[in-house]
Amino acid sequence: MSNTTDLLAEILRLKKKRNAVILAHNYQIKEIQDVADHVGDSLGLSQRAAETDADIIVFCGVHFMGETAKILNPGKTVVIPDLDAGCSLSDSCPADKLEAFLEKHAAKNYFVIAYINCSAGVKALADVICTSGNAVKIVEAAPKERPILFVPDQNLGAWVTEQTGRPMDLWQGSCYVHMEYTRDSIERARAEHPDALVVAHPECPQAVRLLADEVCSTEKMVSYCKNSTSKAFVIVTEDGMLHRLRRECPDKVFISGPTDTCACAECRYMKRNTLEKLYLCLRDLKPEITMDEDLRVKAEKSVRRMLELSR
Ligand code: 13P
Ligand code: SF4
Repeated sequence: MSNTTDLLAEILRLKKKRNAVILAHNYQIKEIQDVADHVGDSLGLSQRAAETDADIIVFCGVHFMGETAKILNPGKTVVIPDLDAGCSLSDSCPADKLEAFLEKHAAKNYFVIAYINCSAGVKALADVICTSGNAVKIVEAAPKERPILFVPDQNLGAWVTEQTGRPMDLWQGSCYVHMEYTRDSIERARAEHPDALVVAHPECPQAVRLLADEVCSTEKMVSYCKNSTSKAFVIVTEDGMLHRLRRECPDKVFISGPTDTCACAECRYMKRNTLEKLYLCLRDLKPEITMDEDLRVKAEKSVRRMLELSR
């Protein structure tokens, strides 16, 4: 089946038949965002996953997002459109490397805060999880007497330290998409669009964050742009975000933040998902996320702690 109208009709029919919920991250292609039940950031979608009474969760995002939904819903079937939709940031912190690091530095008694962009294995080693939407709050709630190890994103970690004043040891991981933005590319965008505000994701490097009018998670970008009196915005994050913003704020102008080589930045993992693959995974209920129960139980503790602190 390749016709978009037929695919959409089949997706809606199967969703009803299977009592499924479709969750889509803000970076998904517009056709997926438009057919989803909920579109949002990592925090909002994990909250939706925690409270759903659907039997099947279809997570249109990347692998760690599907895993998080499974961690919270061991009794439900969780499927994702493409099992190879990974994440460079998650890959930058393998669980065995983190475990070896923690063993080597056991005397430090680290309180480990893991950005949600990590594997279930890393979540199982963490004391608490955070997203870009709640990282400041989670760090502020960390025990004062223990040093913090923040994994895996050095940029988000550095930004949180700038916001809270709390020093942290940072794992040297990064998101390859947000690392494509540079001071030069943002200065160029500012010169071309002098009336636009620059809104950047905290996964961007410091030189880029310093040039932004606002630094926030993808969901907060929506409320920031809605509530701002400005009419135009340069959006410095993955390009799927522009569809969500245009849908929510039809009277405003959104410009893709350019990189040094491209007019926008796209995540090759997020973009593996297509309408056709979404249809197939609803039809066949695969690829399914499965997980060792011991691992799931360990990972659930740190995810639940985050959800409690985010209420
Ligand atoms: P948020 O949507 O939670 O801000 O995360 C961005 C991201 O990089 C997800 O992979
Ligand atoms: Fe991972 Fe970056 Fe893609 Fe998000 S945008 S899924 S952090 S590679």
